Amino acid sequence: MADTHKIYFEPVDIEMEVGEDEKILDAAFRQGIHLMHGCREGQCSACKSYVLEGEIQMERYSTFACNDAEVDEGYVLLCRAHAFSDCTIELLNFDEDELLGGVPIQDVRTRITAIEPMTRDIVSLRLTAVEPETYEFKPGQYSDIGIPGTEEHRSFSMATTQSTPGEVEFLIKKYPGGTFSALLDGGASGLAVGDELHVNGPYGSFTIKEGHVLPVVCIGGGAGMAPILSLLRHLHETESTRPVRFYYGARTAADLFYVDEILTLGKGLRDFEFVACLSESLEGVDSLTAGLVPEAGNVTDVVARREAELARCEVYLCGPPPMVDAALLFLEAQGVPGDQVFHDSFTSPVTVTA
Ligand SMILES: Cc1cc2nc3c(=O)[nH]c(=O)nc-3n(C[C@H](O)[C@H](O)[C@H](O)COP(=O)(O)OP(=O)(O)OC[C@H]3O[C@@H](n4cnc5c(N)ncnc54)[C@H](O)[C@@H]3O)c2cc1C
Ligand code: FES
Repeated sequence: MADTHKIYFEPVDIEMEVGEDEKILDAAFRQGIHLMHGCREGQCSACKSYVLEGEIQMERYSTFACNDAEVDEGYVLLCRAHAFSDCTIELLNFDEDELLGGVPIQDVRTRITAIEPMTRDIVSLRLTAVEPETYEFKPGQYSDIGIPGTEEHRSFSMATTQSTPGEVEFLIKKYPGGTFSALLDGGASGLAVGDELHVNGPYGSFTIKEGHVLPVVCIGGGAGMAPILSLLRHLHETESTRPVRFYYGARTAADLFYVDEILTLGKGLRDFEFVACLSESLEGVDSLTAGLVPEAGNVTDVVARREAELARCEVYLCGPPPMVDAALLFLEAQGVPGDQVFHDSFTSPVTVTA
């Protein structure tokens, strides 16, 4: 058995044990401690912390998430870090409510109930929980879905909420040759209704904070629709009175989906607007449902044009990494405080660059 060490977290005054063979973030989850995290693959920097004392080594990570100068100074990514002595670690970001009160990680055996194309490259995957029969998560969180026949998994955000605790929907972008997403193409070697999938989760800090009152600005692109739909469904179900604006980035009108449902959800909110930001063409958008606001341009430019007071909003941002990176830079330039921005960047483990 691997040696174990003690980790003491400052400034939250929490101590836990970690084996040399497990990553510090995983050891924390195992012990019911929910540290701040995003991708859990060394790509997003959400788990970046500072080592005050002790010996730590990291597995493969992206230098975009933690650069060499930061590593030399003592910064680590806890999702990639192994401890080789007792350590004292300063958490740079933490959510006091989540830290010891997050939803426990569950292993759920599920069965596929539907695989349905939404657009030319986005598929809705619906699962029903078999064992246990329900799956607990917060709106906006994500799961790891095991890739059948391998030890690998991919992360996907739930589009549903706890109103259907046994039925979960994911919205998945298909990449040509994608290890998981190509299995949804309908070929003989792919996945089909009735097949079992293993789901592990929930993970992620992209979740609506109860009791907060600031207006909500959602910015999404592509499959980034999934966690935002979960947030909107939750806000609707809880009869939230917060103003909500949803900016969705797509190339053309043909790439829009769930428009009717989003507008219906919006009617149950006090002040709601759905802005479709089309980067290639506005053609055909007029024939879509009345109530949709079409804008030409990429999503960040449209938000810049329309939102004068972003620093007084809470921003929920998710989708492809280039879109998320551009929006984060823009939000910083707009002076939006970091603790008002929640994001998930839809990275793939095959794109880790260092
Ligand atoms: C927290 C989190 C939540 C996520 N939620 C979702 C979600 O709700 N829906 C969803 O569709 N995806 C989501 N993802 C991304 C998802 O986990 C996979 O990485 C993605 O679906 C690709 O997996 P794959 O096995 O199909 O392709 P892979 O085998 O991983 O990659 C195959 C090829 O596809 C291309 N590719 C893969 N990802 C990207 C990318 N981001 N940008 C550009 N090219 C890429 C690359 O060329 C790569 O070589 C999320 C990721 C994270 C970290
Ligand atoms: S870099 Fe650790 S959670 Fe993303």
